[in-house]
Amino acid sequence: MIDRHEISVNINGRTASYQVEARRLLSDFLRDEVGLTGTHVGCEHGICGACTIMVDGRATRSCLMFAVQVNGAHIETVEGLSKSGKIARLQELFSEMHGLQCGFCTPGMLIVAYDLLRHRRSPSPADIREGMSAALCRCTGYDGIVKAVTQAAREGAIVPPGVAEQPAPGGDRS
Ligand code: FES
Ligand code: FES
Repeated sequence: MIDRHEISVNINGRTASYQVEARRLLSDFLRDEVGLTGTHVGCEHGICGACTIMVDGRATRSCLMFAVQVNGAHIETVEGLSKSGKIARLQELFSEMHGLQCGFCTPGMLIVAYDLLRHRRSPSPADIREGMSAALCRCTGYDGIVKAVTQAAREGAIVPPGVAEQPAPGGDRS
């Protein structure tokens, strides 16, 4: 018999209930049951960072949690952050500064950068390199990623917690 549990979780601004297996990884739940395939799965043991999402305001590796653990939590995935406009400029800068090639690492990179810039208004180059070391990229050599994050920091592209954000044109804030 499959051991299922009901969870209620807010994902990208919408709360819903789900029946999940006790052993279901949060990353697999998001991809296979919620349909949010922007959360990528690489190593599945906490190394690569491709599966990084925001859980209750903290960057979190979703392959290291079970879905049952997010009962009552607020989750933001790359889809939600993109749709709301919170990472819009960061996404543009990754594109402009060649911060991606195959794109496999990009959702995790964007969320790692988002979390870094929310908490460090003026990160040093060393802060940025250390912060971004939480995610691995096999294509870019990291220079474009670091340039994109550095420029995003200069522009104040990411709004820190507690500061009112301006809704993006056409963004879904529900
Ligand atoms: S898939 Fe989660 S850290 Fe690699
Ligand atoms: S762009 Fe290919 S792994 Fe980073």
